[in-house]
Amino acid sequence: MRLDKFLCEMNIGTRSEVKAFLKQGHVTVNNSKVTRPEVQINEENDLICFKGTPLKYSVFEYYMLNKPQGCVTATEDKRDKTVMEYLPAGHRSDVFPVGRLDKDTEGLLLLTNDGDLAHRLLSPKKHVDKTYLVDLDHSLTLEETKQLEEGVDIGEKALTRPAKVMMLNDTQMHLTIQEGKFHQVKRMLQAVGNKVVHLKRITFGALTLDPTLAPGDCRSLTDKEIKSLYEP
Ligand code: URA
Repeated sequence: MRLDKFLCEMNIGTRSEVKAFLKQGHVTVNNSKVTRPEVQINEENDLICFKGTPLKYSVFEYYMLNKPQGCVTATEDKRDKTVMEYLPAGHRSDVFPVGRLDKDTEGLLLLTNDGDLAHRLLSPKKHVDKTYLVDLDHSLTLEETKQLEEGVDIGEKALTRPAKVMMLNDTQMHLTIQEGKFHQVKRMLQAVGNKVVHLKRITFGALTLDPTLAPGDCRSLTDKEIKSLYEP
């Protein structure tokens, strides 16, 4: 692959920024400075460094972000900070968020450039579990809990699929759902006459939010986590 293409894919900059970085001598291939963008490299075997930092090439990248409140789940936005700003420097430029959390929701968000996996995890047919830690405005009755477990009317064609409810205390619960409709959890609680005051996603399919990640922290998935996402 051409060196400039590689550097763009690694998100070092645009084609012209990369050209300038090369000219300024910021890039080495196997410890020798290279300034020509058209130089062919072997991305699997060559050691390519930008400003002294080795760039690790992989076709697919997988990240777990503990999304903080106040940023939008989008690749770009004119007004708001996006989740992309929390990815580590040098991530591939084609990484995108899998699904969406509201601006005021925090917690587990997967970002990858593995389109097949994303498609699979988001497919309504796959019924992928997502668990949320939900803080409520006031306590739920047993009858309201039962409604959530059986399915509620949130104004869609069908009732929501049965959810799992685990009350942690009067106004806090774990809610596990298998769908991902717009504002789904908030609309479900509204449908039973309650209100979500704080929402945090703690699982997504086989993934569990790493408790060592503070809001805004992001790390690559381990090989074991990646494998688990592919398991049926
Ligand atoms: N349900 C919501 O209402 N909001 C989210 O961000 C995720 C699920």
